[in-house]
Amino acid sequence: MTEELPPITATSLPLAARAPGKCIVFGEHAVVHGAPELVFAHDLETQVFVRPAATTLLNGDPRAGATNPYFARALATLWADGPPIDVRSVSRIPRSAGLGSSAAFVAALAAALGAATGGIDRPTLARRSFDIERSAQGVGSPGDTTAVVGGGFLSINGPSGDPLWSVEDGGRTWQVRRVTDPGWVWVVAHTGVPRSTGDAVRAVGERLSNPDGPALLEEFRNVAEEGMRAVEVGDRGRVAVLLKRNQELLREVGVSHPRIEELLRAAEPAAEGAKLTGAGAGGSIVVLPVPGKETELARRLARAGGLPFVVRPSAMGASVLEAPPPG
Ligand code: PMV
Repeated sequence: MTEELPPITATSLPLAARAPGKCIVFGEHAVVHGAPELVFAHDLETQVFVRPAATTLLNGDPRAGATNPYFARALATLWADGPPIDVRSVSRIPRSAGLGSSAAFVAALAAALGAATGGIDRPTLARRSFDIERSAQGVGSPGDTTAVVGGGFLSINGPSGDPLWSVEDGGRTWQVRRVTDPGWVWVVAHTGVPRSTGDAVRAVGERLSNPDGPALLEEFRNVAEEGMRAVEVGDRGRVAVLLKRNQELLREVGVSHPRIEELLRAAEPAAEGAKLTGAGAGGSIVVLPVPGKETELARRLARAGGLPFVVRPSAMGASVLEAPPPG
């Protein structure tokens, strides 16, 4: 049976909305080229508060409508005829870390603006959020925005699962499907090294245009497809092996980083498997911990200079909050 995700229903300003972050388990970068990706929404989240104002502001900044590409594009797409608004955002997701901070901001804001303009269904919210993120970043797939709008575990172009919606861009179509959450706890850790998703995506695109590119992409596809099946049946051992294999492929296309490798080594005694997550070249790692060793793992990662978070999948995608915003 196809899952019905609730639409964002109409609400008037002032209002508050939230969206979870995202963690890519298998298939980043390859997904930009049409291969499958497995991603989950995690429970670090971003909240936005929107209220009418005399001038449009983002966190008190009156220039953000021109200088912040995500905010500017969201206003142009979803609020072209709207009155000035004061938007405040608060987030537990580290920025430029590969953990979905920009997707969560865009989806929470799009949910709020969609609610304030008569409501918005979830496939439209996912497509609008992708348009905004894609035009602000210049490149990329709908994986991040899909995860934070859909919540839980999702596959993009995966082999099985209930279809939810599809997203199109530049002649490419990405099919989004629901994947069963195996109910595991994960640990993510930020290296503290910021990077540009756009630069990393372009560098991998060049690498994949080499003669061995198609064979590498096929390897990414096989790992992600097998990984999805292993997650669906709750096979931790197989998932761990495939995380390591996916990391080797990411190294091969040049997006690992010395700090990533240090954190992966530090994690080993308390990890079943681990890899970088997101665009790489800095950013974060995702670890499947040895059950019961989550705290030890977080301690090891912190000692190695990382910023660790023990996370769980967040079943609920972007949503409008019931409580009225402060102030
Ligand atoms: O590091 P992030 O959160 O921007 O993740 C990007 C994931 C990529 O596959 C590298 C790009 C994309 O848009 O899918």
